[in-house]
Amino acid sequence: MRLFIDSANLEEIRTAASWGILSGVTTNPTLLAKEDPTLDPWEHLREIHRLVGGHISVEVTATDTSGMVREAYEIVSHISEAVIKIPMTPEGMAAVRELTRENIPTNVTLIFSPAQALLAANAGASFVSIFLGRLDDVGSDGLRVLETVCDIWDRQGFDVEIIAASLRHPMHLVEAARLGADIATAPFRVLHQAMKHPLTDLGLQAFLEDYRRLQEEQARRRQLSLTEVASR
Ligand code: E4P
Repeated sequence: MRLFIDSANLEEIRTAASWGILSGVTTNPTLLAKEDPTLDPWEHLREIHRLVGGHISVEVTATDTSGMVREAYEIVSHISEAVIKIPMTPEGMAAVRELTRENIPTNVTLIFSPAQALLAANAGASFVSIFLGRLDDVGSDGLRVLETVCDIWDRQGFDVEIIAASLRHPMHLVEAARLGADIATAPFRVLHQAMKHPLTDLGLQAFLEDYRRLQEEQARRRQLSLTEVASR
């Protein structure tokens, strides 16, 4: 399972990219709206893409099919590798079909049920984003939905990639991998939490202290033999 960062924050993206764990980035209008409004939007997205390389999902904001298709062309005119994020609506599915005919890849977003995922696959989506956290937030079971989607994909042999999205904690990452998602897109906080373990920190601290003690002992012995030589 590949890892994407779900963010539009350059600092977070730069840091996570420097860890060498990322294959891509997903953005959405809410994430972009949290950032500096004085940034040129296209320059901002290009910088995000430069930092991570690989996949970049950019979402349309039109709600009608022709508006979505127009925006998609505008996005790829600025970032030719962009995958167009399209909402799971009837108009969105018509846009996916049209963009697929033109070989423009799409990531269908805001998927909350296996039935929606099935429809998006049939419209020709390249990626389907299953929102785990938001389902959990309303008392449903996001991982159960992802599991069903993964089972359907296995049986049907769909080659549409499954993205586990709206992740809230590292166990979402682990379970998404166990269930067979192709990609997990996680906020910086979740990637950072997944990186950390108190036993790693304690273990490293002990290794470094032990090695420092060894070096001190070696230095003490060297000093001792120099003093011995000098006293002969
Ligand atoms: C997916 O691509 C979305 O950007 C994202 O995962 C939304 O998650 P949220 O529920 O944390 O807003």
